[in-house]
Amino acid sequence: MINLNKFYITTPIYYPSGKYHIGTTYTEVLVDSLKKYHKMLGEDSFMLTGADEHGQKIENIAKEKGITPKEHVDEMAKIAKDLWALMKIDYDKFIRTTDDYHEKVVQDIFEKFLANGDIYLGEYEGLYCTPCESFWTESQLVDGKCPDCGREVKPAKEEAYFFNMKKYQDRLLEYYESHPDFIKPDYRKQEMLNNFIKPGLEDLCVSRTSFTWGIPVPSNPKHVVYVWLDALTNYITALGYGQENDNLFNKYWPCDMHVIGKDIARFHLIYWPIFLMALNLPLPKTIFVHNWINMKDGKMSKSKGNVIYPEDLISRYGLDALKFYLLVSMPSSTDGIFTPEDFVERYNSHLCNDLGNLVNRTISMINKYFEGNIPDYKGHINEVDETFENNVNSYIKEAKRYLDNCEFSQCVSTIFSIVSRTNKYIDETAPWALYKEEKMEELASCMNHLAYGIKTIAILIRPFMEETSDNILRQMGLDNNVTIEDLKNCKNFDGIKVIEKGEPIFVRLEDQVEVEYIKGLMS
Ligand code: MSP
Repeated sequence: MINLNKFYITTPIYYPSGKYHIGTTYTEVLVDSLKKYHKMLGEDSFMLTGADEHGQKIENIAKEKGITPKEHVDEMAKIAKDLWALMKIDYDKFIRTTDDYHEKVVQDIFEKFLANGDIYLGEYEGLYCTPCESFWTESQLVDGKCPDCGREVKPAKEEAYFFNMKKYQDRLLEYYESHPDFIKPDYRKQEMLNNFIKPGLEDLCVSRTSFTWGIPVPSNPKHVVYVWLDALTNYITALGYGQENDNLFNKYWPCDMHVIGKDIARFHLIYWPIFLMALNLPLPKTIFVHNWINMKDGKMSKSKGNVIYPEDLISRYGLDALKFYLLVSMPSSTDGIFTPEDFVERYNSHLCNDLGNLVNRTISMINKYFEGNIPDYKGHINEVDETFENNVNSYIKEAKRYLDNCEFSQCVSTIFSIVSRTNKYIDETAPWALYKEEKMEELASCMNHLAYGIKTIAILIRPFMEETSDNILRQMGLDNNVTIEDLKNCKNFDGIKVIEKGEPIFVRLEDQVEVEYIKGLMS
């Protein structure tokens, strides 16, 4: 039953310059899983994603390819949509910053800020590469040269509009202090305070004249709106803000959660809240900043030849294996490191040995001992059963605590602790011995508790491993129309029959063969 609760969650919109590697899919996988979890809670969930399509980089790439920027971004938006379809990302809206309605509202916002003095005309100073017609900052240079063409850059100035960030500095500080859940994890807030806010905010350049692929400033069209004021406002224009039909905006804003990568923290934790304050709009309830998935030798990059693409892993190991890996391998305090060895190890131990075998063994025992019928629950037979059930309940609570605290890797690990705990329960109860000794009541309770453990697991993994959850529920003879509420009702199996012969959920991988295979995928 859908209740009145709602959940609005967004990903950053992507800067589409090429193919997406596994790291760039992390935000999407996390947000999609959270949305699906809230849906299973019966909430009216809305997920936004999209593409950030303006700016000099896009203009340069299109020029190199000999096509128009619009043709280039059309191709890129299709690549993104195809990938999200392959990964079963269930977004509700895909916004493109070249969409007419977005461009119009960005222009209105720009003029509004100009009229009330938040935006003023000044001069932008930077390091300019003449052949590329691009400004760079000192830190973007490679060996002191233009990062795109490798040629000399020289200091230059151009007329530009600036947003007066200083005016909102104290209000932002106060907001941080009075809203402890605004930024997660907390150390990201400290970084913002120490690195940017306490030393004094710099005003932000919000227009350029050195390129044209952007939204023109209506009152001075030789300027185009510079990326962040354009890109960040997608979170509200996508819902209809500033447009005739703003029903979605009224329903969903303020957003419950923005999920972003650490590299764009400053823009979302400082500039975005300030833009919203200047518009007199409420701020998102939480902005969660995640770390990066890197390789052993650092960032994934084509020049290092260490890039792994999601399509390649999905076609060999399945979508759920990739989603599980991404979520479980990203710590909240440091970057995650992808290694082929780790991927294969986690697959074999958690998915194949622990989860796959648990389901398979249980199905074959229920067939052997009870002709495939899951026995009814008759209360606790002994302490072992009771302790098992208490432990499962504690793990569910622990997983929820991690989830509420945005500790997603720990949350997934805790769910998999239920898998290990259920396997341990088989060892503790030794059902084969109960059968031999003809202790049928104990055996019935044991099978019932195993089915209870497995149903609990199938519900909890569902937001990020839907195919596996479906597969488990089907093999157990259970309906896949499950909700989080059903966790309270995982013991009643009246008349339910498991399939006659269990099918492997995950097939064991040959360690060395697969490690070499994945190494061969890197390019
Ligand atoms: N277009 C901007 C966002 C504008 S939001 C108003 C952008 N795009 S991006 O394509 O460069 O990055 C998209 C997201 O992917 C960001 O959250 C970024 O942190 C994330 N990641 C990029 N590489 C990543 C990894 N290696 N690992 C995890 N996330 C990564 O920034």
